[in-house]
Amino acid sequence: MFYLAKIIVFWFLVQNSLATKTFPESFMFGTGTAAFQIEGAWNEDGKGPSIWDTFFHKKNATENGDVACDSYHKWKEDVQNAKDLGLKFYRFSIGWSRIMPNGTLNSVNQKGIEYYSNLIKALKEEDIEPVVTLYHWDMPQYISDLGGALNVQFVDYFEDYVRLCYTLFGAYVKYWLTLNEPTIQCFVGYGYGVGASGFALPGDGLYQCSYVLLKAHARAYRIYDEEFRDQYQGKVGIVLETNWIEAETEDPLDLEAQERYLQFYLGWFANPVYKGNWPDVMIDRIANRSKLENLARSRLPAFTQDEIEYINGTHDFFAINTYYTSTVSYQEDEPIGTPSYSNDLSVDASTNSSYIDNQALRKLLNYINDRYNPGSIIITENGRATSDGLEDIERIEYLKIYLCSLLDTILEDNVNVIGYSLWSLMDNFEWGTYETRFGIIRVDFDSPNRTRTWKESARWYQNLIATRVLDNSTFIANN
Ligand SMILES: *[C@@H]1O[C@H](CO)[C@@H](O)[C@H](O)[C@H]1NC(C)=O
Ligand SMILES: *[C@@H]1O[C@H](CO)[C@@H](O)[C@H](O)[C@H]1NC(C)=O
Ligand SMILES: *[C@@H]1O[C@H](CO)[C@@H](O)[C@H](O)[C@H]1NC(C)=O
Ligand SMILES: *[C@@H]1O[C@H](CO)[C@@H](O)[C@H](O)[C@H]1NC(C)=O
Ligand SMILES: *[C@@H]1O[C@H](CO)[C@@H](O)[C@H](O)[C@H]1NC(C)=O
Ligand SMILES: *[C@@H]1O[C@H](CO)[C@@H](O)[C@H](O)[C@H]1NC(C)=O
Ligand SMILES: *[C@@H]1O[C@H](CO)[C@@H](O)[C@H](O)[C@H]1NC(C)=O
Repeated sequence: MFYLAKIIVFWFLVQNSLATKTFPESFMFGTGTAAFQIEGAWNEDGKGPSIWDTFFHKKNATENGDVACDSYHKWKEDVQNAKDLGLKFYRFSIGWSRIMPNGTLNSVNQKGIEYYSNLIKALKEEDIEPVVTLYHWDMPQYISDLGGALNVQFVDYFEDYVRLCYTLFGAYVKYWLTLNEPTIQCFVGYGYGVGASGFALPGDGLYQCSYVLLKAHARAYRIYDEEFRDQYQGKVGIVLETNWIEAETEDPLDLEAQERYLQFYLGWFANPVYKGNWPDVMIDRIANRSKLENLARSRLPAFTQDEIEYINGTHDFFAINTYYTSTVSYQEDEPIGTPSYSNDLSVDASTNSSYIDNQALRKLLNYINDRYNPGSIIITENGRATSDGLEDIERIEYLKIYLCSLLDTILEDNVNVIGYSLWSLMDNFEWGTYETRFGIIRVDFDSPNRTRTWKESARWYQNLIATRVLDNSTFIANN
């Protein structure tokens, strides 16, 4: 009797939490990919080389993006999978050098245009909204040869490219993402040299890169505003990325370190776009240290008042990618010596990518909402890597926890999160390795066919999208 009552109470609790925690009708579920990571066909049909093609070829890397998932040929199957999953949208990127081999207007590649045209039209026919990243790190090699993101003329080349994209695809595309994770591109390509274009300039290069990319983003936004918005009524934004940053303790010094880290990492790009200018803490600290290094001016380039105003407000939403939680604590400022971003920041940080923090997403989304008041937020990437295999239970557990946290944010904190894009539709080339698998669909990289097979998580996501109800039972049992 008592036992039965317990079961009934438990059943009621489960039913209750399941019945009341449902994603709003208008909430959009999607998945994401990026051109370099899935397309392959790196030099086919007139495509020019991108900096990532060159980067891996120069290293003679055994793993590169030459074939990847072969989506250049298998895109119909990808659209079919997106349809079968029930996706409301599919986020993918356009390869700049596929449609402009040298990145310049004097050579436009019709075959490349056809590829994206076909993809976009096929998605629309299935009622899947194309969410298009204009630039997901794969700069045309020729633009890099001209100085890449260290040359302010990059902004003009980018303008020509985005105007062509808006002109060709604007009638079909309602969501444009200008740049993906510029922070990472500046870090790996211009700061620490571990990715394309390989410049190790940790005290200057990465700041100059951010200065140029912010101007490029703003130009792309303004061009849409001035020339295309009236006609097409789309939305445009930049994709930023950060882990949730947790203070090691409640000690005010650790809390200050947490805030400084968030300002240096997320605020670096978010502050200019959502509030105007770099965060004060960056301006002050970098100017101060530059002076002590006997430099004539700050290593962080200053924006003019006109530039501040031009960049400020260039957003129709906040797009955020997030995967992990990092823990930070106070440390003494690094001594003046080698100029670098990490010395400028001087915070002790560590990330445990196996640890799943069930509050991370909720805290991050509230932080973004409070700081930047963006109106609406789209999660453009979130997910977990697993080893190879179809029984990806760890991925499902991760997704449950993050989506729970997301639902709490929407339903209890009233934060306007309008969509979620799971990274990734399929296993792909993780910028140097095929071992790290983020897909809900397996890709057999040993087969020339690059055979796609649904994992457990794909079925789970399909069910979530169909019902909008998060199956929280395993999570409840675990607590
Ligand atoms: C890559 O291979 C080429 C041709 O065999 C060789 O000249 C070059 O030194 C190699 N580069 C590296 C980084 O190993
Ligand atoms: C791209 O630039 C290179 C170097 O200037 C040139 O050799 C090549 O012909 C150009 N390709 C196209 C398609 O314009
Ligand atoms: C940025 O724009 C907002 C909204 O128009 C405004 O309140 C703010 O003062 C601007 N920031 C700067 C630094 O001009
Ligand atoms: C700048 O340097 C001065 C002198 O070392 C120091 O007193 C001040 O606190 C520093 N300010 C910042 C923002 O780091
Ligand atoms: C990382 O997190 C996992 C899961 O919570 C835990 O088992 C492991 O001990 C952690 N590793 C470190 C170095 O803290
Ligand atoms: C899921 O279960 C946990 C633990 O009981 C609870 O805190 C959370 O609010 C639930 N979330 C949803 C979306 O049901
Ligand atoms: C690749 O696909 C073709 C055509 O469907 C099939 O005949 C072939 O057996 C497949 N090869 C592999 C290795 O799966």
